[in-house]
Amino acid sequence: MCGIVGYVGPQDAAPILLEGLGRLEYRGYDSAGLAVATKSGLKVRKVSGRVADLAADLPARFKGAPGIGHTRWATHGEPTPENAHPHTDAAGRIAVVHNGIIENADELRAKLAADGVEFASQTDTEAVAHLVAAAFQAGAVDLEQAVRQALRQVVGAYGLAVMDAEHPDRIVVARNGSPVLLGVGEKEMFVASDVAALIGYTRQVVYLDDGELATVTPTGYRTFTLDDRAVAKSPSTIDWDVVGAEIGDHAHYLIKEIQEQSRTIERALKGRIDERFDTAHLGGLNLTVREAREIRRVKILGCGSACYAGDLGAQLIEDLARVPASAEPASEFRYRNPVVEPDTLYVAVSQSGETIDTLAAVQELQRKGGRVIGIVNVVGSTIARQVDGGIYLHAGPEMSVAATKSFTSTVTAFALLALHLGRIRDLSPEQGRRIIAGLNALPEQIAQVLEQSDAIAEVAREIAGSNSVLFVGRRRGWPVAREGAQKLKEVSYVHAEAYPSAELKHGPLALVSPELPTVAIVPDDNLLDKNTSTLSEIKARKGPVIALAHRELPSDLADRTLVMPKNEPELDPILMSVPLQLLAYHAAVALGRDVDKPRNLAKSVTVE
Ligand code: G6P
Repeated sequence: MCGIVGYVGPQDAAPILLEGLGRLEYRGYDSAGLAVATKSGLKVRKVSGRVADLAADLPARFKGAPGIGHTRWATHGEPTPENAHPHTDAAGRIAVVHNGIIENADELRAKLAADGVEFASQTDTEAVAHLVAAAFQAGAVDLEQAVRQALRQVVGAYGLAVMDAEHPDRIVVARNGSPVLLGVGEKEMFVASDVAALIGYTRQVVYLDDGELATVTPTGYRTFTLDDRAVAKSPSTIDWDVVGAEIGDHAHYLIKEIQEQSRTIERALKGRIDERFDTAHLGGLNLTVREAREIRRVKILGCGSACYAGDLGAQLIEDLARVPASAEPASEFRYRNPVVEPDTLYVAVSQSGETIDTLAAVQELQRKGGRVIGIVNVVGSTIARQVDGGIYLHAGPEMSVAATKSFTSTVTAFALLALHLGRIRDLSPEQGRRIIAGLNALPEQIAQVLEQSDAIAEVAREIAGSNSVLFVGRRRGWPVAREGAQKLKEVSYVHAEAYPSAELKHGPLALVSPELPTVAIVPDDNLLDKNTSTLSEIKARKGPVIALAHRELPSDLADRTLVMPKNEPELDPILMSVPLQLLAYHAAVALGRDVDKPRNLAKSVTVE
């Protein structure tokens, strides 16, 4: 979704802003713009389309600093250059970029219009630029004061950055519900909505909290609140390397991130396996053994793939720790006035740590006294800082919109949590050892799955021509099927639907025909017979079957078997998810889709 970058310092801002915006492209957007302070006032350039279009559109003499840049995901008004940010006041003195939604925008616009302000766009953000200008007219002495006065009239969510042609040595930023951070450099400073924008420039970042503002100059920053109380904030160090966010030789981030999974799982496991006691050591949980033993239920919340990973997490926790567990979309949970129980452990799952529905569910839980831990990838993200403890994935930046490495790392983190909760209950040391051996085998086995990429590409080209694809699985295979269908839909736009295998006969079997391929999850476990009889039902109706199994299936059950390496039944879903990612990827490539930035989708959904 929307992205913000800002620069204050001795260099020309535009190239730095363009690079930062490029790094935020993965979030999804439909227009982009820049403002820089020059000797003759502010210059603004905006386009609908990509950051590359903006770069091509910049005049050679677009030089100066400070500067602010933005990628916009349309909410108020179409993705036109007029509606793109930065927005300015009538005199072109103030420029504003904004993420989030200003809820009283209509009211503010009407009030400003009554005072004679003419609007150049349909956006909520433009009102802020006029409010800041009005604050100066009403006597504000500096940008800090003018922004504070303007924001006191604003209701809604914002992360914003403001520049003033009359104070060309600073940017003022503010955060309320939408992330803003500062990057500390040598005699230069950066601002951004996402650490990814700063990669390559600095590792020292200061995260603002809701209700906080900052004035940023080349030599430092001052943080304060809306009522001008100073807040002391010191920088923390981000540990991501540039390589993690670079595409390298890969055609797309999606395939790069799929292929990284041996390493990312290793990183999720690193330092967390306790061979001495056959358990997992999770330093960030902030739960004493006694507290962990008192947990009677686990409730997992997330959106999209995070929720499907949570479904697998719930089964792992029930299987290994024998604690009742379930997962639910965070968006549903937050709106149903949930009963919050003191002996339930709530787990918020989010790759980005910024998904608004998941964050709102966490806040609702905490308001009612619930204990929430997070399983999050982005260090220092809003959810990571909001929860009472948690597990970081350490999967590195995930740039492609479709979740892949974060999915398998999340399930791995759940396996560690389940092992930990199990071993302080009734899971025996032998069983603990069995799971640990399985976890340690995952990286090598993922590499074996990835070797089948070409064979999977062949299958993908076949299904790419279908109108629809059915995915079926039982028990642990069911969330795998859901995630497989989700991946295919997201990146190839081929309709896909997932069903629990036994539910086929209650409806979708009516759809089965030679035109509807089925992808079936058929692990070699205690449900193998049940799963093979599902395949017979489909084949009897001439439905083509692609099976993911642990051995080659006969042709009367499957037209094609992708044979997967076998791990422990609890961990097999991690391995089974990988070929489905490859299937979706290759189908998307075959269909010429925008693989990393599928239409209508965003990586990090920070508005409702
Ligand atoms: C968006 C993305 C999905 C992702 C979901 C949750 O919808 O397109 O790929 O699974 O958000 O994101 P999160 O960052 O909270 O895991």
